[in-house]
Amino acid sequence: MKKIFVVGNWKCNPISLKQARTLFNSTKRGLKRIKNTRKVEVVACAPFVYIPSLKSQGSDLKLGAQNCFWEEKGAFTGEISPLMLKDLGCKYVIIGHSERRKYFSETDSMINKKLKLALKLGLKPILCIDKISQIKKGMKDIPGKEIKKIIVAYEPIWAIGTGKACGYEEARQFNLLMKEVLGQKHPTLYGGSVNSKNALGYITESGFQGLLIGGASLKAKEFLKIIRLFC
Ligand code: PGA
Repeated sequence: MKKIFVVGNWKCNPISLKQARTLFNSTKRGLKRIKNTRKVEVVACAPFVYIPSLKSQGSDLKLGAQNCFWEEKGAFTGEISPLMLKDLGCKYVIIGHSERRKYFSETDSMINKKLKLALKLGLKPILCIDKISQIKKGMKDIPGKEIKKIIVAYEPIWAIGTGKACGYEEARQFNLLMKEVLGQKHPTLYGGSVNSKNALGYITESGFQGLLIGGASLKAKEFLKIIRLFC
């Protein structure tokens, strides 16, 4: 059976290391108390600066980053290489989130370069899109075998952080279009105002293999409630 991905995207939160540790450790402890976690892959994508202080080793809570650069190292002031993320124990990296496209002018070609390097270095990329055309553009010149490793998250911009989640049927229709491009078995996620009340339907009704969760991942209790739906 395929695992359900429950991925938390903390964005630029919380505002102190102490709070970040509390959030990570509460989620980790809660996850430990859940008996059957074999069916889920739970990830916390934390801000870069907190990553070295969050210990995911030996736990079911995996670490992810929210972005990475497209070069391994060098004179690129302010950038973070996926090599550094790997070294710190990150397993996943979100690439091309709509907030990065909007506020940092990330283009499909930049996203493409980031995907290529993340894949080369063995990080699992979570590519965010809200248009079908962004899939092919982001994956340009990536061999089929590698494409299979890219998790693709559908995040309608209007649903992000608004409390207005996408309807299950609309999400299902989009998911079908994604699968036409990616193949039926390709892992796809839904993201946008997911909470413990609406989470289940995106898997059972819309056919996604997981969720990318912003706001609700910042409250360990709510995040754990979502995880428990799949255990
Ligand atoms: P949200 O964010 O759950 O707060 O809507 C989702 C995301 O942007 O990944």
